[in-house]
Amino acid sequence: MTENDSLMDKIVSLCKRRGFVFQGSEIYGGLSGFWDYAHYGVLLKENIKKVWLNRFADSREDMLRFDSAIIMNKEVWQSSGHASGFADPMSECKKCKHTFRTDQLEDNKKCPDCKGELGSTKQFNMMFETNIGAEKGEATKSYLRPETAQGMFVNFKNVIDSFHPKLPFGLVQIGKAFRNEIAPRDFLFRAREFEQMEIEYFVRPNEWEKSFEDLRKETLAFFEDLGLDSNKVHELEVPQEKLAHYSKRTIDFEYDFPFGRQELSGLAYRTDFDLSSHGKGSSVSLEYLDEEAKEKIVPHVIEPSFGVDRLVLATLVNSYTEDEMNGEKRVYLKLSSKIAPVKVAVFPLLKNKPKLVEKALEIYKMLKKEMGSSTSQGVGTVEFDDNGNIGKRYRRQDEIGTPYCITVDFDSLEKGDVTVRDRDTGVQERVKIEDLVNKLK
Ligand code: GAP
Repeated sequence: MTENDSLMDKIVSLCKRRGFVFQGSEIYGGLSGFWDYAHYGVLLKENIKKVWLNRFADSREDMLRFDSAIIMNKEVWQSSGHASGFADPMSECKKCKHTFRTDQLEDNKKCPDCKGELGSTKQFNMMFETNIGAEKGEATKSYLRPETAQGMFVNFKNVIDSFHPKLPFGLVQIGKAFRNEIAPRDFLFRAREFEQMEIEYFVRPNEWEKSFEDLRKETLAFFEDLGLDSNKVHELEVPQEKLAHYSKRTIDFEYDFPFGRQELSGLAYRTDFDLSSHGKGSSVSLEYLDEEAKEKIVPHVIEPSFGVDRLVLATLVNSYTEDEMNGEKRVYLKLSSKIAPVKVAVFPLLKNKPKLVEKALEIYKMLKKEMGSSTSQGVGTVEFDDNGNIGKRYRRQDEIGTPYCITVDFDSLEKGDVTVRDRDTGVQERVKIEDLVNKLK
């Protein structure tokens, strides 16, 4: 086992132990490529989405939100090119029957698992098929969407008619996408069900470069918002011969994962491919009346596309830290406070001293009111914990990345102050209870 394998194992194990992510359908033996998010994973994921929405939607004046259906008329996928072209090359081992993506194999003839002979390479369409209604057959066939993007393109006319937006403007959508990946792998990195955050940004054809550059910079700033180490984020200009059929320019943003440098998100200049294809396919004009130029045009599209689960994994990998504190080994997640699932935890020094517990609960409730919601289990943005000795409670919060822990001790009852412990340094500072909210915010 290499050091990087063991880092991934440690992260997968922390995610399970501390309630971030579980294997999908685990009690039935699991289902490859599907993952279930538990409380802290949900909070982390929601915080990542909030940061993204803040940067790409709420703080701008040129973006409209969208939320389209997962299942659409199958003609959508014919016009988009997915029905015929959204395929990976696949081969099956004649001996052990395992399937592989042949473009990811070092030797295209031998099975990497049992060294048996691989069968011929076939193109495998990655869309999950389903049927609408009781009848099963070609007429009722449709697909689970493999990207959120198409739902925005096919609604272009509706959006124009409802909102009359001025170019350039964008549609912003967060939602599930499904791909029947031949070889799901590397935990959340390549899954069969995952979430995307996509923007379709509509521009005048001769103005695409300016918007592309703006969205490129915003993408880098977003990774910084998440606290990703900028030395581990790379931009790859996709060479012309490797561009997708719809793209004239694409930058892949990559991150140094323990299993290698891999794509985190993409930024593509999609020209007028999508609106023109759906215009043709549906026979509904998807032109835009440009009042400035007094002409009808088919806008061009810049598309920043992010995978939420890959960002969850990147933030976990990026923040996972082992060190020694007070002579003991510890593990902590050095998450930015913007995305940490829990911002602050409150402890009474001792569980069996009612005065300490009462004061700690009072502070916990006050902070909860000021800083956000929590559940009846005491877990959430602000947590209360009186379980086990104080050292153990600090370790538990360190492992989920809580930036601050507050302890109520005997001095607190007399002097009206508490200790605030910093996750990264372990340094404790005494702070007056009335100054806590300002200090933490
Ligand atoms: N609309 C463009 C599009 O879907 P893509 O490069 O195929 O482009 C965009 O996907 C992003 O979605 C990727 O950069 C990645 O973050 C995420 N993604 C794609 N396939 C994924 C998978 N199987 N598991 C997890 N995330 C995935």
